[in-house]
Amino acid sequence: MRSRLPAPLLLLLASLWQGAPRASELRYPPGKIAIIGAGIGGTSAAYFLRQKFGKDIQIDVFERGTVGGRLATINVEGREYEAGGAVIHPLNLHMKHFVKELGLSVPENQGGLMGIYNGDEFVFEESSWYIITVLKLLWHYGLNPLRMNMWVEGILDKFMRVYRYQSHDYAFSSTEGLLHALGGDDFIQMLNQTIGETMQKAGFSQKFINEVVTPAMRINYGQSANINGFVGAVSLAGVGSGLWSVKGGNKLICTGLLYASKAQLISGTVLSVEEKMRSKRTGGTIKLYEVSYNSTSGPATTMYDIVFIATPLNHQDSSITFWNLNPSIPEFSNHYHQIVATFVHGRINASFFGYKDPSHFYLSGIFTTENPKLFINSIGVVSPVQNKQEELKQPMRSAIWKVFSKEPLTKDQISLLFSSYDSVKEKKWLAYPHYSVPKKCPPLILHDRIYYLNSIEWAASAMEMSAIAAKNAALLSYHRWYGNMDMIDQEDLNEKLKTEL
Ligand SMILES: Cc1cc2nc3c(=O)[nH]c(=O)nc-3n(C[C@H](O)[C@H](O)[C@H](O)COP(=O)(O)OP(=O)(O)OC[C@H]3O[C@@H](n4cnc5c(N)ncnc54)[C@H](O)[C@@H]3O)c2cc1C
Ligand SMILES: *[C@@H]1O[C@H](CO)[C@@H](O)[C@H](O)[C@H]1NC(C)=O
Ligand SMILES: *[C@@H]1O[C@H](CO)[C@@H](O)[C@H](O)[C@H]1NC(C)=O
Ligand SMILES: *[C@@H]1O[C@H](CO)[C@@H](O)[C@H](O)[C@H]1NC(C)=O
Repeated sequence: MRSRLPAPLLLLLASLWQGAPRASELRYPPGKIAIIGAGIGGTSAAYFLRQKFGKDIQIDVFERGTVGGRLATINVEGREYEAGGAVIHPLNLHMKHFVKELGLSVPENQGGLMGIYNGDEFVFEESSWYIITVLKLLWHYGLNPLRMNMWVEGILDKFMRVYRYQSHDYAFSSTEGLLHALGGDDFIQMLNQTIGETMQKAGFSQKFINEVVTPAMRINYGQSANINGFVGAVSLAGVGSGLWSVKGGNKLICTGLLYASKAQLISGTVLSVEEKMRSKRTGGTIKLYEVSYNSTSGPATTMYDIVFIATPLNHQDSSITFWNLNPSIPEFSNHYHQIVATFVHGRINASFFGYKDPSHFYLSGIFTTENPKLFINSIGVVSPVQNKQEELKQPMRSAIWKVFSKEPLTKDQISLLFSSYDSVKEKKWLAYPHYSVPKKCPPLILHDRIYYLNSIEWAASAMEMSAIAAKNAALLSYHRWYGNMDMIDQEDLNEKLKTEL
């Protein structure tokens, strides 16, 4: 039969046959996807990739340390405490969804009272009488606190659009593009100026910025009001009410997601990613990424169609080399900020904080303003991850205090902060980006099919941001694989989706 076809037609068919795989090559599902890093970014990426690509693809998650990454607990006298990412905002919908989906629970959280210390005295102290706290706020800062709440809510409203875009499967190919789709030029502008400048322009007083905004930046990002306006706003939302955490430790979300995604965990350090040509069984060639890693059973390599980098590529701590990529991955500056969390079981030295009569001291959290002589960023009573309440009630009684500082505390400094103490535990982090403005976020697409989730940390570093980046990258990689270009970088999505309803 076949030989009956005229030769030219045969040739045409043959060329169509050869050409077809080029055009539709990527229509076949990918075989294997690698995720480097099993923090909240990598594990939520595994979860979203499984949702998108279905049950047949193989997902490997590489982890050189412990699942959870910067979500980790520390053992102090037999009980576990959050040592890294600790609190979650009530409107962090991905995190909320994970907890529900994984059957985890959230203990009741009872906040204590806090004060703001400037190195010499308290510039503000909460009262156990709510109305007195409100009057004090009005007295000190006029309407600034109220306006700040409204201002942060306005930003949050726009930020929340991300959930609608993502539930409709839309993806963005850059962090700036994502932010622009949420809040337009205003959001991009916030990346370009400090939270101090942003709030000054919005009419907030310098006193309020120094005494309320700066302490919030110090406790959440260990930095000053010079961090960008967007992460600044995230930080202000992060001192609001209704904050929660996961019973047993936030890291349980990561182990849960890994399990739910049916991904394979590979314990080992990824050393390099290299692009390689492979010939296909059906003829022709295909480009794959070879991931080389060092595991407990020695060095090994595996080939992948898609690679997700779910860990910061910073110069201080970089272990991954990229080979044979054309175009090569551009240099981007990426310095991470050190933060030390020190856990002390002891009695706080109220006279250190200017209290003449220590029996009057009732605070369980102290924020600080910018003052070079201060060697701490904040100090506060913490409860174990199993059991949130009990210890916040009487802070003067011996409690577990968590101290944040830039440098490790010396013995002398600890004896100044505490009138007596039993034990000290310390955890040093390369915690989050060292923010400066203006700053471009690193690319999300590092190479054809290599995606960099932690680009988003340069807009703001938080658990929910990593989860948003993970879902975006899962959608982006899916649409690019199957050529659904109309699902990427759509303009005016907010308007489009409004009319769709
Ligand atoms: C002290 C502190 C307090 C914080 N407080 C909060 C908070 O209250 N609320 C909040 O939302 N966020 C908070 N954050 C930020 C939040 O913890 C992070 O934004 C988030 O956990 C980052 O997750 P990730 O998965 O992107 O990165 P990571 O958690 O850093 O995960 C990356 C993983 O990759 C692994 N890895 C790296 N290189 C390799 C390699 N070559 N091969 C294999 N594996 C590798 C690492 O071991 C790590 O486990 C805090 C962070 C710190 C440090
Ligand atoms: C942000 O700053 C960069 C670098 O200075 C500049 O190129 C860009 O135009 C600025 N963007 C906005 C929206 O101001
Ligand atoms: C691989 O791991 C082994 C043992 O953990 C270590 O001795 C070796 O130096 C590592 N190799 C590389 C290239 O990192
Ligand atoms: C407490 O703080 C005061 C004031 O800084 C200091 O003089 C004292 O040595 C500290 N330690 C104790 C145990 O009181």
